[in-house]
Amino acid sequence: LPIVLALLVAAYLLGSIPTALWVGRRFFGLDIREHGSGNAGATNTFRVLGKKPGSVVMAIDVLKGWAATMMATVMLNQGAIRPDQLLYFQLACGVLAVVGHIYPVFAQFRGGKGVATVLGMMLAIAPATVGVCILVFLLMLFLFRYVSLASMSAGVAFALLQLLPPFRPDNSLLLVFGFVLAALLIYTHRANIGRLRSGTESRVPLFGRK
Ligand code: G3P
Repeated sequence: LPIVLALLVAAYLLGSIPTALWVGRRFFGLDIREHGSGNAGATNTFRVLGKKPGSVVMAIDVLKGWAATMMATVMLNQGAIRPDQLLYFQLACGVLAVVGHIYPVFAQFRGGKGVATVLGMMLAIAPATVGVCILVFLLMLFLFRYVSLASMSAGVAFALLQLLPPFRPDNSLLLVFGFVLAALLIYTHRANIGRLRSGTESRVPLFGRK
């Protein structure tokens, strides 16, 4: 039990690492939350600081979700949980990392929106479904050039895809979590939804289209 508890805490702390904030502070001397959309995430790092820092933040934030979820495998290998409990602890560790990312203890609980960290978490649990969601994200981004809309669409796609036989999980708890995470992503994008509705959301300058 102590190792399970320690790893659950570690999952939250790992998710709490405010990558965008620290990269902005350390290498650019600014608080990313005072620029662009004000979000401490990969998208805003791309927007405010450029491609290289944006890619670094995205990679680390995805990795946080993935590594936290893999802590359940460590619990299993240590004999702390049973094989039939693996999914439950994967979901617990993953969600704790996502919550850490959105409400980081290392950044006054003002973090990001959870897209990259959910991606990393689900890559560890349902990679095939995530693969299709990435295509949905890219298609939506290409069509509308709003990262927020593409992110929410990918989240909703994940939940809905799981209703289809090829992506249907054996365990219905995962099905429920798909919808919970989609709802969480819509919640964290509530300010974006307001901007999308009023036509003030910023677009990605893709393929030279401003
Ligand atoms: O990474 C979150 C993305 O979906 C929206 O970010 O900065 O445009 O609010 P942002």
